[in-house]
Parts: sequence; structure tokens; C-alpha cells
Amino acid sequence: MKVTVVGAGNVGATCADVLATREIANEVVLVDIKEGFAEGKALDIWQKSPIIGYDTRTVGVTNDYARTAGSEVVVITSGLPRKPGMSRDDLIATNAGIVKSVTEQVVKHSPNAIIIIVSNPLDVMTYQAHLTAKLPREKVFGMAGILDTARYRAFLAEALNVSPKDIQAVLMGGHGDTMVPLPRYTTVGGIPVTELIDKAKLDAIIERTKSGGGELVKLMGTSAWYAPGAAAAQMVEAIVRDQRRVFPVCLELQGEYGINGVYLGAPVILGKNGVERVIELQLNDEEKAMLETSRGHVKEVMDALDKMSAAPAA
Ligand code: NAI
Ligand code: 2OP
Repeated sequence: MKVTVVGAGNVGATCADVLATREIANEVVLVDIKEGFAEGKALDIWQKSPIIGYDTRTVGVTNDYARTAGSEVVVITSGLPRKPGMSRDDLIATNAGIVKSVTEQVVKHSPNAIIIIVSNPLDVMTYQAHLTAKLPREKVFGMAGILDTARYRAFLAEALNVSPKDIQAVLMGGHGDTMVPLPRYTTVGGIPVTELIDKAKLDAIIERTKSGGGELVKLMGTSAWYAPGAAAAQMVEAIVRDQRRVFPVCLELQGEYGINGVYLGAPVILGKNGVERVIELQLNDEEKAMLETSRGHVKEVMDALDKMSAAPAA
């Protein structure tokens, strides 16, 4: 079974590495536009196999989508990352063009593939890919929620001095400062988190989570890749192993939460058909208000993309 990862940069190569190391696919094809780059990364990952002990074949190609044909899942990470001072939304024009052209190639060669978008601004790039692919939303969705909840869970684990494995959480909304953390749905080994941490500390962790991507951009001069690459690989695993995992993913809401036609993070069941079901939580008024703010922000960026797409080329 074949999985393709488009973009052999920091996130794409990390995703391919996790897919191979955990033997999530038999073959991982890495594609990049930079001559020789994907070939080099794939060869390096393959040469690690005797040391770590895995047999997933990793193959790199420069823009050769014929080699990706018949992929079961395709992860799209191609595009510019954030630099200090930039928001995710600043990437829209360049990355929309890249996501559009890549999605066309992906669908042409792997018409049955499930497509996972990673490129930023995530919610709007998921919109772009969904428009281009002309597939049901169950087969074209984005990765952000697993990363954002992982950051939240890691911060909580540190504050409570417990294993991050025992922290269960869900976040909703857009991938950005308007994301909607849901402490009411956060547990530590089944215990509501609010019983274990005071409100001020929890609020500080929520704020740190919202700007978690920016914290790393400031530290490294570019955006994160270990957690994002692993998060995308976890989604691939849920699909190819039909695990029916419950994860927050970004997809077009079609009436759920009273929202129609906007791409936002929501909890879903992920299995062999992609999104098997969207889960509708009973949000309280405060949570609904936060989701509405997030919806408004993502819709603005979607509208900006629509205007750019409608404008005649310069
Ligand atoms: P990077 O710069 O390390 O890698 C991007 C790669 O895409 C480069 O190797 C580049 O040559 C390639 N590329 C550009 N145009 C292409 C095309 N038309 N076809 C194939 N490959 C092409 O960037 P990085 O750090 O890997 O980030 C990738 C994207 O993922 C960025 O947009 C970043 O903002 C986003 N991101 C999203 C996250 C999320 O939670 N959704 C988390 C982290 C990053
Ligand atoms: C992140 O959250 C920048 O979206 C990227 O790390």
C-alpha cells in the first residue's frame, strides 16, 4: 500500500520518516519541486532502515506524479512556512497556487486517494484543495487539530507532572489564534482537568497553546516540523489501518454546529473511508461564541482567496 507525501521539506520529510519508521505504509513516495531534494531525503530515510529496523520503502521524485499513481493517501505539505513576523494568513497567495497545482496532479494520478492538507493557512488551503479535487469532504481534509491538542496536552503534562499519554483533549475551530480549546472536554486519566489544576494556570496553558506555532517560529526562525509531521502520519495511520480514531480535523462544515460552507476543525472519526462521521458536541454559550469568532476569521480569509482567484492575472 502506497502513501505519497508532497513537499520534502521539514514537515513532509518528518511525516515520511514517521510513516516509514512505524511501517504505516509499504511504500512512501516523497515528491518535491526542488531537483534531487526528495530523492535525497527518501534515500536517507531508506538508509536508516537497517539501523532502526523497518522495511517500508521510501522513494523520492522531482515532480514526477506518475510515480505516485495509485496512492491510498496523499499528504500535501508543499508551500512556504512562516517566518518571524508573519501570520499563517500571510502565506495565502503563494501557497494557494501551490496547493491547487499539486492537488490537480494528485487527483489525476490517484483518483481514489484520501487527501490530507498540511500547508498553511491550513483551513483555507483545505478549502482550496477541496475545491480543486472535487471530491466529497470526507476525502479531503486538513491536519491542525492533532497538533494543537498535542501542544495543549504537552503543556498540561508538564504542569501536572504526569504522562502526556494520559491527557485526552479536543480543540475546535481554525488553526490560529482563534482556535477553540475545550477544557470541559479535557481529562487526565479520566479525571476532569479542572479538578487537578487551578483556573489561572489552565487559562495560561490555553493562551500558550493558541500561540504555540508562533512560539516555535520565534525560537527557530521557521515553523515547527517534528510534531506536525508526526500528527499528519497519525492521521494516515488511522486511515490505512481503519482504526476509527477520534481526532479533530479541519473540514467543510455542512450544517454541523450551525455552520455551513466554512472549513473548521471539529472532532471526527477517522477510518478507511477518511472521515467516517463528524461528531457534534453540545457546546455551551461561551464555546459557541468562540467558535463563531473563529468561523468569522476563517471565512474572511476564504473570501480573500475567492477574490484573488477571481482577479485577472497581472
Ligand atoms: P519547508 O520549506 O521546509 O518545505 C516545503 C517544501 O515544499 C519545500 O521543500 C519546497 O521545495 C516544496 N514545494 C514548494 N512548492 C512545491 C510544489 N509546487 N510541488 C512540490 N513541492 C513544492 O516548509 P515546512 O516547514 O515543511 O512547512 C510546509 C508547510 O506546512 C508550510 O506551509 C507550513 O506553514 C505548513 N505547516 C502547517 C502545520 C499545520 O499544523 N497544518 C504545521 C507546520 C507547518
Ligand atoms: C504551526 O502551528 C506554523 O501552523 C504551524 O506550527
